[in-house]
Order: sequence, then C-alpha cells, then structure tokens
Amino acid sequence: MTRRSVIRGTGHYLPDRVVENQWFEDKVETSDEWIRSRTGIERRHFAADGETTSHMAIHAAKKALERSGFSAEDIDAVIVATSTPDLTFPSVATMVQAGLGLARGFAFDVQAVCAGFIFALANADGMIRSGQAERVLVIGAETFSRILDFEDRATCVLFGDGAGAVVLEAAEGERGILASDLNSDGSYRDILYVDGGVATTGEAGKLRMQGNVLFRHAVEKLAETAHHAVEKAGMTTDQVDWLVPHQANARIISATAQRMHLPMDKVILTVADHGNTSAASIPLALAVADEAGRFSEGDVIVTEAIGGGLSWGAVVLRW
Ligand code: UT7
Repeated sequence: MTRRSVIRGTGHYLPDRVVENQWFEDKVETSDEWIRSRTGIERRHFAADGETTSHMAIHAAKKALERSGFSAEDIDAVIVATSTPDLTFPSVATMVQAGLGLARGFAFDVQAVCAGFIFALANADGMIRSGQAERVLVIGAETFSRILDFEDRATCVLFGDGAGAVVLEAAEGERGILASDLNSDGSYRDILYVDGGVATTGEAGKLRMQGNVLFRHAVEKLAETAHHAVEKAGMTTDQVDWLVPHQANARIISATAQRMHLPMDKVILTVADHGNTSAASIPLALAVADEAGRFSEGDVIVTEAIGGGLSWGAVVLRW
C-alpha cells in the first residue's frame, strides 16, 4: 500500500461585495460585452476595507476543517499560497495558525502567484509522503484588488478576491494525490509582474501584464504540464473525470480542455462569478464543486495553473 495525501474537506470564503462588469464601464473604456466575450468573467468579489488575506484564509480554513470533521489541534502544518500577504512578514500561514488557536506544528507561505496553490499542494504532499506531517491545511488566499491599477483596463477587469482551503490527510490506499508536475522559467519575468516591492520601491506596487503574450504561453504550457502529470500518474487523459483549471480566462480553459480531449461538461468553471483570484482560484473551484456534490469517491481530478514567474504546474488526484 502507498502512503498518499487525501483531501478530507474543502472550504471557501468570498467577500460580501460583488462587483459586476458594468461597474468598470464608468472607470475605464470597457464594456460588459468585451469582458464577457474575451474572458468569460461576469462578476468578481472585492474585499472590504480592512478585510485582509488572512481574514479570508481563516474563514476558508474553518469551513474546510468543519467539513473534514477535524479540529484545528489535529493539523500539523498550515501552508498558504498567496502573493498578497497582509504584511511583508510574518507569513499569512502563521496568522491563520493563530486565528485557528493552533499553537503547535508549523506554518509558512508559498509564493508562486497564480500557480501558488499547485505548488503548495505538491509541497504538502511531499511532506505527508515523507512522514513530516499527518494532516496539512493547504490554503490559497488573495486580495488582488489591492494591487490593481484601476486606470488600466487590460488588467483591472480580470481579477477578484477570495480564499479556498483543503485539509489533506495521510492515508494508505488508492485515493489521494497521485502525481504532480512543477515548472518555472524566470526569463519570462516581464510578462506578468508587480512594479513594486520591499527591496525596490518600498511600496506594494501594481500588477502589470502582457495579456496576449501570456495567453499563448498559458494554452501551450497548461496542456503540456497536465499531460506530464497524467503520465506521471501512469494514466491517460481518457481516465480523467474532472479538470479543475486555474480560472483566469474561459477561452484558455476551453483551449486546454480541447488539447486534453476533455469535453466541457468535465470541466469545473467558476471564472464567471469569481474572476481570476490567482492562488485562490483552484481551491475556490474545488470547494464550490465539492459543496455542490459534483465529485464522487474515486473520481480522477486534474488541476493546473500558470502565473507570474512564469511558474506553472499540475496535480493529479483521486477523490
Ligand atoms: O492568472 C495568470 C494567468 N493570466 C492569464 O492567463 C491571462 C491571459 N491573458 C488573457 O486572458 C487575455 O489575453 C486578456 C483577457 C487579458 C486579453 O484578451 P485578448 O483577446 O488577448 O486581447 P488583447 O490583449 O490582444 O487586446 C485586444 C484589444 C486591444 O485593443 P487594440 O489594440 O486591438 O485596439 C486592447 O487594448 O482589446 C483591448 N482591451 C480592451 N478593450 C475593452 C484590453 N482590455 C480591454 C478591456 N475592454 N477591458
């Protein structure tokens, strides 16, 4: 029997404030029609003043714990994927640990932008399989609204805020994470970056993106990494029950599904309601689909993402 990391519970949190596409029509030269047809986005949630990444992460974590049947004391490690931490340090993960009243184990953040949850999941899986932890809380949480330039129509309409969480537990058997595939190429730095930081401007900065260049990389690299991960799991794509993709753009998602020969009814889509929530996008989609009862035990799920770095990757798991 093989020791694997099984998802025991999922949870999500979205801020109360819903911003429809029309809201941007007064701010920049854009239209609901353009945003819908080019991205599939209809609305997104924005955090309230004072609502931070750690607040949202704690809400999502509590929900995931509740649904897993575990309490905070059962958790050995907390990993938060985020590029929009409350503070430069300490990590959001330690804030979540404190927020859950947990004084044991360890906690740290992972920063791989939109691919952050994939990287966090693969790291958590490595720690579980090597015996360093029995149960790990893996969270993706972002407040991208704080790094958007609301004068740049090419980016401000794309992103939203939110958090999603999963509780992973070590278990012997066929269920759990089967394979992962992680990639980065720092030579693509200028395609997607934030123009500020601690060691440069001393300010958080704003998001900058060459959208159409990234689009081409995304379609090619996401299908490739998903195929590699499926291969590493000893499977072929016809054995895949669900694709849970990073929710950046409905056109990228359908192009990836097509390259994997998966029909759209096997794809979880939340981009219309959430926009691109970066590292929160996959755990949000997983939690929404799980809460709707869409997954059955034994289903094979492929999840993939690409983001700034560039960094990209995929995870294959059996539900
Ligand atoms: O999470 C990280 C991963 N992120 C992604 O994967 C995002 C990847 N990129 C994309 O999703 C798409 O490239 C975008 C949605 C960002 C843009 O769509 P596109 O079809 O690639 O459009 P484009 O950038 O080639 O721009 C086409 C036109 C341009 O006008 P001209 O030069 O043709 O006159 C843009 O200025 O659309 C214009 N445009 C807009 N028009 C109305 C750009 N943004 C807007 C807007 N409203 N919000």
